Amino acid sequence: MNVDGKKAIVFGGTSGIGLATTKQLAALGARVLAVSRDPSKAGTPPAGVTLAKCDVLDRTAMEAFFKQHAPFDILISAATGGKRAMGPFLEMDMDGYKASFDKLWGYANVVRYGASHLSKDGAIVLVSGAPEQRAGSGLQKCINNLAAD
Ligand SMILES: NC(=O)c1ccc[n+]([C@@H]2O[C@H](COP(=O)([O-])OP(=O)(O)OC[C@H]3O[C@@H](n4cnc5c(N)ncnc54)[C@H](OP(=O)(O)O)[C@@H]3O)[C@@H](O)[C@H]2O)c1
Repeated sequence: MNVDGKKAIVFGGTSGIGLATTKQLAALGARVLAVSRDPSKAGTPPAGVTLAKCDVLDRTAMEAFFKQHAPFDILISAATGGKRAMGPFLEMDMDGYKASFDKLWGYANVVRYGASHLSKDGAIVLVSGAPEQRAGSGLQKCINNLAAD
């Protein structure tokens, strides 16, 4: 898709992968709405980027948010949903483990409430991770090794 002149909404667009995506879309000519619970963490946004506040887990707020900003051409979520637990399951804090699934419910809300406002040739992108393809024992060791590289 040529993103020049398109309108994009990036949930989790104020940090990490989402912020990098936001900046790249803006550099390519898109108008971007970067959304999170505390968008101030993104600092001063580059030209073409507007910061907005919304919690992907708040269904009422999400419906209202999409109505307010429709229509749009690109819908992206990299929002983690909140705190994520990592590590061997048997050593995990159970509240942290439960919170790891907030990403799923956030992504579900993004698609469920956002898709109907997408332009006809629009696109949805949900940022995933390597464990989606192959999770196994020793995942934390693998992550630690990657971080050390
Ligand atoms: N980092 C990696 O190496 C890596 C690799 C592969 C895949 N991934 C995946 O890529 C995604 C992004 O990872 P990241 O490392 O870039 O994350 P990150 O830097 O922690 O950024 C997460 C973003 O999501 C927002 N967010 C969290 N909960 C939210 C909520 N309830 N409502 C709205 N926004 C919310 C955060 O802002 P607020 O706190 O202000 O809400 C922040 O902007 C994740 O799904 C992760 O699993 C990451």
